[in-house]
Amino acid sequence: MTSHPPRPHRDVVSFVRRSTRMNESQTKAWERHAADFVIDIPHGEMDTSVADGTEVDWAAEFGREAPLIVEIGSGAGDSLVPMAAGRPEANVLAFEVFEPAVASTLGRIGRAGLSNVRVALVDGAQALAKLIDDGAVTELWTFFADPWHKKRHHKRRLVGTDFASLVTAKLAPGGVWRLATDWEDYALWMREHLDHHPGLVNVHDGWAPRLAERPVTKYEAKGLAAGRTVHDLTYRRADAPQD
Ligand SMILES: C[S@@+](CC[C@H](N)C(=O)[O-])C[C@H]1O[C@@H](n2cnc3c(N)ncnc32)[C@H](O)[C@@H]1O
Repeated sequence: MTSHPPRPHRDVVSFVRRSTRMNESQTKAWERHAADFVIDIPHGEMDTSVADGTEVDWAAEFGREAPLIVEIGSGAGDSLVPMAAGRPEANVLAFEVFEPAVASTLGRIGRAGLSNVRVALVDGAQALAKLIDDGAVTELWTFFADPWHKKRHHKRRLVGTDFASLVTAKLAPGGVWRLATDWEDYALWMREHLDHHPGLVNVHDGWAPRLAERPVTKYEAKGLAAGRTVHDLTYRRADAPQD
């Protein structure tokens, strides 16, 4: 009988490994813009994990001190780029694990002529935990996170109680977490896990109105075309003063 060496321990992650093959325009965008906008993070066991002990000087990476907005799972940058363009006063940092999507994002950043965006090709949950100071995030965006429908996969959902505790630690006083999903069961799951989290307050005491600055992305359009309802949610760090 063949014996296999023990497999390295892999944490449960909210994404699947996919081919990293880029098309021609993505390759060009990468070559042209990666040096300016991609932050290299030393990786650990997986190429999307963050090596222990890594520290990043964000002000140096952005070339300035500014309020920090973080997006996790930015995909091809469909929301990131127009929303960052509308927030020139903020440093906007995106974490995305899928390299071709990051390359598309770079093309968009270049075409929009933005200087306030940086992208890191890394697991955003780990990066938030390891690389971002407590209380440093003025806004966190998680739009159309992978729904992981099957019950046995629910543990892979990005949004849950543990992640909410992490977000609570990282949000600045008065900081907000904006979410959107086109999957009803995930939307309800979010309410179930976040509404009663001691570190968060549901700003609208229910569903949030659609965030005006959030463009309709391909994921949202697909959900709407399939007859699904899109839900937005906004939470604020619990110790922040109320409106
Ligand atoms: C369904 S797509 C939505 C993309 C984008 N937010 C949009 O609305 O167009 C979810 C994205 O999250 C990324 N993702 C999932 N888990 C992640 C994680 N832990 N860190 C970084 N990216 C992640 C996936 O690779 C994928 O690109």
